[in-house]
Amino acid sequence: MKRTIITATLIALALPAMAQDTAAPEGAPSDWNQGGGEQDEALGLVPDHENGIYTYEVCSACHGLNGWGLPDGTFPQIAGQHPNVAIKQLADIRALNRDNPTMYPFSLPQEIGGAQSIADVAAYIASLPMNPDNGVGAGDNLELGAQLYADNCVQCHGEQGEGSNEKFYPRIQGQHYEYLLRQYQWIKEGKRRNANPEMVAQIQKFTDEDTAAVLDYVSRLKPPAELLGAPDWVNPDFDW
Ligand code: HEC
Ligand code: HEC
Repeated sequence: MKRTIITATLIALALPAMAQDTAAPEGAPSDWNQGGGEQDEALGLVPDHENGIYTYEVCSACHGLNGWGLPDGTFPQIAGQHPNVAIKQLADIRALNRDNPTMYPFSLPQEIGGAQSIADVAAYIASLPMNPDNGVGAGDNLELGAQLYADNCVQCHGEQGEGSNEKFYPRIQGQHYEYLLRQYQWIKEGKRRNANPEMVAQIQKFTDEDTAAVLDYVSRLKPPAELLGAPDWVNPDFDW
């Protein structure tokens, strides 16, 4: 309860700061993964499982106890994401390299702690079994989607959308279609400032039809069985 009050105050404080920070980036396209700061610090730390659980409590308010997000894309699935990717996204959101006004106040050191907490919660998220029943697209253009994926995305996100922890390429398999669509659009338009510039260039030629087709295909790529939870799985770390 105390946390909720604190965070509500933080939202109010954070909003004006966010508003000033919406300009698109100029230049420095290779800076998508410049590292430094909390990202590097967190990458070098040994995660603490108990503090991962403790920290995740505040996250669960939006991402769900299971980390499965919502099929309507409001909140992404974060269960099963590579720890390095989660660390980078959290550090970017905190450093305002990626705009996320909804989550920003809840990501701050005052709320969850420093680099150690980032490392802890990232390892915890990575360990959660993934949603076996994520939101998918219309399913009416999957051949085109498969072709576009093979030609444009495999090189970074992998055959099955598994990504790469080492290279900070997100796991996109099994992600909610509506979330994929939003991120993709923001990456294309330069609104997601921490995006990989090669990907930004790559997808400029995509029509709306191409975009829907390739992301529908991605949303149907299944994570390996050992990463998936049972449909009725409920995170036992929180007994409420
Ligand atoms: C108030 C709601 C809220 C809370 C609390 C919250 N998040 Fe989020 N989070 C979001 C939203 C919304 C997005 C997607 C924003 C967008 O569309 O760019 C997101 C995105 C993310 C992403 C990026 C996912 C991706 O695929 O790129 C990560 C990682 C993440 N959250 C982790 C966390 C962690 C860890 C916590 C707890 C410390 C947390 N979130 C707390 C709302 C929240
Ligand atoms: C040159 C490598 C590269 C290529 C090619 C590429 N991506 Fe990406 N993609 C990335 C990286 C790196 C990120 C994460 C950037 C960051 O740190 O914010 C990303 C992020 C994404 C995201 C957001 C994921 C999330 O969890 O928020 C989606 C969706 C995505 N890519 C889809 C695609 C699709 C579909 C294609 C092919 C049409 C593609 N990408 C091609 C490197 C690439």
